[in-house]
Amino acid sequence: MTKRILIIGGAGYVGAHVAKALARRGLEPAVFDDLSAGKREYVKWGPLIEGDVRDQRAVEDAIRQAGADAVMHFAARIEVGLGERDPASFYDVNVGGAASLLRAMRACACEQLVYSSTCAVYGEPVSLPLKETEPLKPANVYGRTKLAAEQMIADFGAAYGLRWTALRYFNAAGADAEGEIGEEHEPETHLIPLALKAAAGLSPPLQVFGNDYPTKDGSAIRDYVHVEDLADAHIRALELMNAAEGGRALNVGTGRGASVFEVIETIEAVTGRATPHEIAPRRAGDPPALCADPSLAAKTLGFEARSDLARIIETAWAYHAPRWGVIGPGSTPSPKSIGRFSPSRRETP
Ligand SMILES: NC(=O)c1ccc[n+]([C@@H]2O[C@H](COP(=O)([O-])OP(=O)(O)OC[C@H]3O[C@@H](n4cnc5c(N)ncnc54)[C@H](O)[C@@H]3O)[C@@H](O)[C@H]2O)c1
Repeated sequence: MTKRILIIGGAGYVGAHVAKALARRGLEPAVFDDLSAGKREYVKWGPLIEGDVRDQRAVEDAIRQAGADAVMHFAARIEVGLGERDPASFYDVNVGGAASLLRAMRACACEQLVYSSTCAVYGEPVSLPLKETEPLKPANVYGRTKLAAEQMIADFGAAYGLRWTALRYFNAAGADAEGEIGEEHEPETHLIPLALKAAAGLSPPLQVFGNDYPTKDGSAIRDYVHVEDLADAHIRALELMNAAEGGRALNVGTGRGASVFEVIETIEAVTGRATPHEIAPRRAGDPPALCADPSLAAKTLGFEARSDLARIIETAWAYHAPRWGVIGPGSTPSPKSIGRFSPSRRETP
């Protein structure tokens, strides 16, 4: 059984949650991160090895130092808009970094890889919910670089016997139950932290990009999956790779879409605060709805998302509110809502 896992990008939002979950399972994570976007204080469950994934020699040293028998790869440039303005850095880190990592793993005979992929590899969906058989036509630089890395991993698997699992996350959201790690990207472009900040009165009104989509309330629909559920999927992927050769790409989502207005409604119920917002034009390239069909992950990994949107928002608020000085540390977000509020669960059209 794999025991020691090197987490590339483990000082970031998703990677740190996975490190925590691995340590809880008695496994030994070590983090390799250049701290370009991650936080030193998120590395608590194993050593931090500072380095750049594009530096093959540094990655080889880290694999040996950690005694890693598996790697999880989270390090990437992720801000979609920035990718359009600066594709060079996206190809460099997301594709070049993956190539460097794969060469390092090969040099060290480290033969198991879990890769953080994304639903952005699909682009505009042809049919919903999205299955893994959907055409892969990413609509932006970010998605193209993530797909290129995924394909490179599959090629290494076919030629060199690497065992791999690409987890295509939908929208990662929420925070760990203890409020130790949260979603704080810089710049932040993700809906839930932005909407919470507006609810906290710390930012201008939230911009709702489009209220004229062909969805039930006109706003865009996404599949928000709790980051602790994502962490669970990573552990299941490791277990599978211990037993099975080959590779696979799997959707990791809830299978339930939530609209922007439903997110706002849930935030207001959970926090007891209004979420000031204004309607802005649609953004180019934003599909009206994205929602996973997670049945292949259920069949292959036994994965099932356990948290709903209310839990996502409760944990995110419990992380942010004390740090923003809105509620005291350890306070519950909103006594009236915890455990009782559940958003309407309408399927994606
Ligand atoms: N957050 C989401 O909703 C989401 C959705 C789909 C896919 N993903 C994928 O999940 C992964 C993690 O996302 P996240 O939200 O945790 O991002 P994040 O920015 O919080 O974490 C990325 C980490 O990688 C590190 N890093 C970046 N470039 C590096 C380099 N050259 N060398 C070493 N370390 C480097 C950063 O310092 C950071 O700690 C990414 O690969 C992303 O594409 C995220």
